[in-house]
Amino acid sequence: FHYPLPANEPVLSYAPGSAERATLKKTLAELKKKEIDIPMYIGGRAVKTGKRIAIRPPHETSHVLGYFHAGDDKHVQQAIDAALKAREAWANMPWEDRAHIFLKAADLIATKYRSFMNGTTMLGQSKNAYQAEIDSACELIDFLRYNVHFLSEIYRQQPVSSPGIHNRTEWRPLEGFVLAITPFNFTAIGGNLPASAAMCGNVVVWKPANTQVYSAQMFMRILKEAGLPDGVINLVYVSGPVLGKACFTHPDFAGVHFTGSTGVFNQMWETIGKNIAKYKTYPRIVGETGGKDFVLVHKSADVDAAVTALARGAFEFQGQKCSAASRAYIPSNLANAIKTKLAAVLKTMKMGTVEDFGNFINAVIDEKSFDKIAAYIDAAKKDRKATIIAGGNYDKSEGYFIEPTVIEAKDPRYVTMCEEIFGPVLTLYVYDADNYEKALELVDTTSPYALTGAVLAQDRDAITLATQKLRNAAGNFYINDKPTGAVVGQQPFGGARASGTNDKAGSMINLYRWLSARTVKETF
Ligand code: SER
Repeated sequence: FHYPLPANEPVLSYAPGSAERATLKKTLAELKKKEIDIPMYIGGRAVKTGKRIAIRPPHETSHVLGYFHAGDDKHVQQAIDAALKAREAWANMPWEDRAHIFLKAADLIATKYRSFMNGTTMLGQSKNAYQAEIDSACELIDFLRYNVHFLSEIYRQQPVSSPGIHNRTEWRPLEGFVLAITPFNFTAIGGNLPASAAMCGNVVVWKPANTQVYSAQMFMRILKEAGLPDGVINLVYVSGPVLGKACFTHPDFAGVHFTGSTGVFNQMWETIGKNIAKYKTYPRIVGETGGKDFVLVHKSADVDAAVTALARGAFEFQGQKCSAASRAYIPSNLANAIKTKLAAVLKTMKMGTVEDFGNFINAVIDEKSFDKIAAYIDAAKKDRKATIIAGGNYDKSEGYFIEPTVIEAKDPRYVTMCEEIFGPVLTLYVYDADNYEKALELVDTTSPYALTGAVLAQDRDAITLATQKLRNAAGNFYINDKPTGAVVGQQPFGGARASGTNDKAGSMINLYRWLSARTVKETF
C-alpha cells in the first residue's frame, strides 16, 4: 500500500454569510451550553476518577466549559500496561489497515467534526476562528495525511539485492511504549505527537497540557470513531513528575515525543540518562522546546512587508506560537517609519473573546502565563534601558487579556531581547543601518535558541549574507515573510540549539525516529 502525496487541506474563510461560519457559531453555542465531563482513555475505557478539574475559556474565566478527571501514578501504570497489551496486535497489523484509521480520522475532522475541533480549540485555548482553522483543522489533517504518505515512502525503501542474495529492511516499531507530551499552543501538535508514533506501529501514553485537554479529548474521540484499537493511544491527565516517575523508570520505555519548555526537556534528558541501564533499548528522545525567534530587517527592506511580518509574526495567537517573532532588529534608516506604522497597525487589532469573529487578539492561556508576561512589561516600564512604544496594558478581571506590546530596547542584550516570554510582547532594537554585519552577529549570539527567524531585504547580497551567517540561528528561516505559519509538507518544522532535536514535525525525519530498522539477508 502506497499513499500518494496529498494536497494541503484548504483553509476555510469563515467570512460573514459563509456556511462554515454558521456551523461554527452553532457549535460554539452548543459547546458553551453543555458542561462536559471528560474522562481519561486507558485501554479504550473511559476512566473517571472523581478528581475533577474545571476548564474555563481563558478569555471568559467566569464560565465553566466542563471538567476533566485527573489521574495519578496508578493511572499512568494502567496506561503503560494497556499500551503494552495492545502492542503485538498493533505492531503486526497490515500497514494499509493502520494507515486507513488515520486517513479516516483526517476525513472525519475535515467533514463531520471540523467545527468541534475548531470550537474546542477556540474556547479552550482562546484562538480566533482563523487561528483555530489553520491549526486544529488544516494542520492536524495535513499531519495525518502527509505522515501516511511519508511512511509509505519509508516502507518502500529497500536495500540492493543480487543473484543468490536477497536483502530487505524491515521497518519495525520501537520495542516498548512511546510517551507523547503535548503543549497548549497547537492542537495539531497535540494530535501529531501521539499519532505519528502510533502510525509507525508504536503504542503510546499521551499526556496533554491541562490547558489543552478540551481539544485533545475531542481528537481522541475521533480516533476511536475512526477505529483505533483500544490501548494503542492512552490519554491521561497527570502531573509531569507523576508521569515521569512511572514512565522513565519503566524497562519498556522506548521514547518520548515532546513539545514544551527547554527546562523540562533538559530535566527529562537527565532523568532518562540516570535510568539508562533500566531500559531494554536506548530510548528515542525527540523534542521541540523554546524559542526566541527573530525578525531582521535590512535597510533595503520594503517597510510595509516588514510591518506585516512583525505584526502578524509577533501577535497572532497572542504571541504564543513557538515560532512567534519576539525580537526584531530594525535598521536606523527605516526605524521611524516602521515604528509609526507598526503602532498604527496594532491600534486596529481588536481584542476580546473568540465568539466575536472581529477580534484579532484573544486571551493568553492562563493566570501563570499572564502574570509572567505582565511582570516583563512592568519591568520594562521601570527600566531606563527600555521604552514601551505600543500597548503595555493588561487586565485579568474577565479573562487574561494583554495588549499587543512593543518594547524598544536601547541595549541589544536587554532581558526581553534574550529571554523567552511566550506572549504578545515584541522587543525592537534599532541598529546602525550601515553596520549590517553587527546586526547579524547580534541575531546569532543573543539567545541560546534557534527555532525560527526571518530576514526582510530587497538586496540579494543582504539575503545571501543573512542566509550564510545565520545558518545555525534558526531551523525554519524565512526570507521576506513572517517567521510563523509553517505548512505541513511545505516547510518541515523544528529547530536546533536550545530549541530542540530538530526532528522536523510532519516529515520523514520525524517518522524515522519512531522506527527501528531490521536488516534481513537471505541467501539461496
Ligand atoms: N508550526 C507552527 C508555526 O510555524 C509552530 O508550531 O507557526
